[in-house]
Amino acid sequence: MPKKKIVALGGDGVGPEVMDATCWFLDKIGFNLDIIKPACGAEALKAQGNPFPEEAQRMCEECDAILFGAAEGPSIAILVYLRWVLDNYINLRPVKYYPGARSPLVNPEAINFCIIRENSEGLYPGREGDLSWLAQRLAAYKDPFGHTLDHYGPGKFALRLITEKGTERIARYALDLARQRKASGFPGKVTCITKSNVLFETCGLFRQTVEKEMKKDGGLTCEHYYVDDAARRIVRFPQDFDVIVTSNMFGDILADEAAEVVGGLGMAPSGCLGGMKPYFEPVHGSAPDIAGKGIVNPTAMILSAKMMLEYLGMQSEAEALEKAVAETYRQGTALTHDQGGKSSTMEFTEAVLKNIG
Ligand code: NAI
Ligand code: MG
Repeated sequence: MPKKKIVALGGDGVGPEVMDATCWFLDKIGFNLDIIKPACGAEALKAQGNPFPEEAQRMCEECDAILFGAAEGPSIAILVYLRWVLDNYINLRPVKYYPGARSPLVNPEAINFCIIRENSEGLYPGREGDLSWLAQRLAAYKDPFGHTLDHYGPGKFALRLITEKGTERIARYALDLARQRKASGFPGKVTCITKSNVLFETCGLFRQTVEKEMKKDGGLTCEHYYVDDAARRIVRFPQDFDVIVTSNMFGDILADEAAEVVGGLGMAPSGCLGGMKPYFEPVHGSAPDIAGKGIVNPTAMILSAKMMLEYLGMQSEAEALEKAVAETYRQGTALTHDQGGKSSTMEFTEAVLKNIG
């Protein structure tokens, strides 16, 4: 089989650290991958005046899959490309507990669910402006109190777009995933999370669309929670979830919360799919408070690479990688600081490599 072409974009802060560790690992292990690492992020901005040079973009167009670390400041241009230009509208965020990871819960055993965050609309990317500008153009609009927008004086607005097409496609993905999971023993349940008791129009459409798609589909269970209640349930009853589907910002926030119940942001991988080219990235950001110290936990990035291998059809490699991560947590002797250990990023990665069967 020809080697799969992977583009690895480290980005900023801890991004290059977790990316280097993961690429080192993938290289040592000898999987059938050809990984290229074009300059990007702050480094490329300094050297070439552009955080996402054309060459890096061209490589992304030509590869089989992309790995991404994290972005901050001007490097957000990379994310704009990966999410919106490539139209990766599905953000799949698995939440799985590996025994030995540092969960704050008394019983984190068997937590294993997925958050599907709609990745293309909602409140992102920010469509914002001056309230006075909007007030002028929406002179006839009255809010629930009967006020026009100029009643409130100077301020800002943000638009939250929820479309039929955007919601249908994410709902269908959630159903497909729940069905696939059911085939391997999961309950076959989709939990829709909205705030439709306040946002009647936008969240109302999201909820109705998910429920409409569900009705077409026998054999799955559908439930709905308001986002505030759902946030509480993720802490209290995390084992009750199977597949969560929600809009962009709720998914962003709930995924950080869910990461904590299984050990923290250092443990949380993700895949952004459905568009022209998928990319895989940790849930966390550039973590400037620990960047450059060699202590960042690379698990989220390594598990994102595992998701990439699955996407590429390299099932046995993905399984081997996940088993080695799980074994490293079970042993507990080479964990990073966030997990209560003393090991560096590379010491942890070396331990995972040793555990590959
Ligand atoms: P963050 O996720 O970077 O960090 C939050 C906290 O978690 C920090 O204390 C950090 O040290 C810790 N943490 C994160 N990942 C860790 C890991 N792998 N191992 C150990 N500890 C870890 O979020 P924050 O601080 O809100 O944002 C920092 C920057 O990252 C901002 O500029 C933000 O815009 C950007 N960001 C970028 C994202 C992306 O590129 N996809 C996603 C989220 C934030
Ligand atoms: Mg986030």
